[in-house]
This record gives sequence, C-alpha cells and structure tokens, in this order.
Amino acid sequence: MSNLPSHVAIIMDGNGRWAQKQGKNRTFGHEKGAETVRSITAYCSQHSEVKQLTLYAFSTENWKRPKLEIEFLMKLLERYFKKELSTYLEQNIRFHPIGDLSGFSSSLQKTIISVCEATAHCTGLIQSLALNYGGRDEIVRSVQKLQHSNSTISEASISEALDCVNDVDLLIRTGGDHRISNFLLWQSAYAELFFTDTLWPEFTIDELEKIIAKFKKVERRFGGVN
Ligand code: IPE
Ligand code: IPE
Ligand code: MG
Repeated sequence: MSNLPSHVAIIMDGNGRWAQKQGKNRTFGHEKGAETVRSITAYCSQHSEVKQLTLYAFSTENWKRPKLEIEFLMKLLERYFKKELSTYLEQNIRFHPIGDLSGFSSSLQKTIISVCEATAHCTGLIQSLALNYGGRDEIVRSVQKLQHSNSTISEASISEALDCVNDVDLLIRTGGDHRISNFLLWQSAYAELFFTDTLWPEFTIDELEKIIAKFKKVERRFGGVN
C-alpha cells in the first residue's frame, strides 16, 4: 500500500529571487508565481488522490516587507480572485481561505469571502490559500474560540477549531531553504517534508509528480512500528 497525498501543502518561496536573477523587480516574481499557482492547482484538481491543496501566499510575518511590495501583493490577490472565480467553478474547486482575514482591507476581505461563498457547493479539490496566516496565530485563535464557548481543551477540540482542520500528508517548500516559517505547525506534526531548490515561479507539474512518487514510497510510522 502506498501513501496517499490527500493533503498537499506548499510553501511557495523564491518569487523575489527568481525576478532578481533576471534583473527585474521582485513584484515580477510574484506575478509569475501566480501563474504557477494556477497550473499546480489545475493539476491537483485533476489528480483525484489530492483532496486538498494548501498554499502559503502571505504570512503574518510578511507585513515586515517594504510597503510597495505589500501593496503590490494585495492588488495581485484582488486581481487573482476576480479573474480565477470562473476557473474555480469550471474545475469544481472549493476555495477555502485560512488565516486572519481581518488584517486585510475590507474590499479584499469581501472579494475573498465572495469567492468562498460562490464555490461553497463545489465538490472537487479544496484549494486553501493561507492569507495573513501564521501557525502560532491560528493555534491561539483556535484556543480563544474554545475559551469563549467554554469548551474543553483537547487535541481534538483544538484541531476542530483551527482554520485548517485536516492534517498535512505532504509538505513541500520551494526556494532552497529548509524551514517551516510558521506554516501549518499543528497540522504538519506527521507530514512528510520535501525541500527543493527550485524557485516557485519555475516549479513544474513534472517536479510535483516526482515528489509525489517519492512520497508514496516513504514508510510512514506515526510513532508506531511497521
Ligand atoms: C514567496 O516568495 C512569496 C511570498 C512570501 C509572498 P518571496 O517573496 O519570499 O521570494 P524570495 O524568498 O524573497 O525569493
Ligand atoms: C514563507 O516565505 C511565506 C510564504 C511563502 C508566504 P518567506 O519568504 O516569508 O519566509 P522566510 O522569511 O524566508 O522564512
Ligand atoms: Mg522568501
């Protein structure tokens, strides 16, 4: 029996370096990175073993970036959602954002929520974009929700109150660094980690297929013995 990549999560890193490598502004890399999001999402929506694809798009720490880069990213997100709604519907993809959306402008929040509502009936791939997302922030908000409703604190109740309720099977980071950068800390407890030097704008379906093939052969023990 091989492992199923039911929940694939990706830290899409390397946009800025990709652009700078060719003497362009970092924003050019983000623009190109959005195209990779499209192609990888389309691939996963056709790959029936992948039920959920969670992509790290903007972290709670990314507010430290230059104002102009942040402004560009916000506009890119707004444009992306407006343009992609028809694709989500055509491909039967349900969009589910994770992260603290209250950090965004009300117009961007409305756009994000409208895509979420418009695709709520879709039964294919769940595409989650992590937006103003931090794993620690998510855990804190989850515990606060439980406190407010006087619920008991347990692994199961915390898991259920998180923005992302499903454990990660396969976690990939592009861009050459070997770190988690505050992504899906709770859900990745037993994820298989794959790191590649490929910069996100250059990441291909072919490379994803190779990673999935390796993932399938890993012996996952979850603390037990096989
Ligand atoms: C990832 O690429 C995208 C975001 C964090 C929004 P980077 O912008 O971090 O690109 P590098 O890592 O600087 O090359
Ligand atoms: C992680 O990339 C966040 C996203 C991909 C959105 P960063 O570029 O922000 O991470 P660090 O700063 O290298 O850890
Ligand atoms: Mg980076």
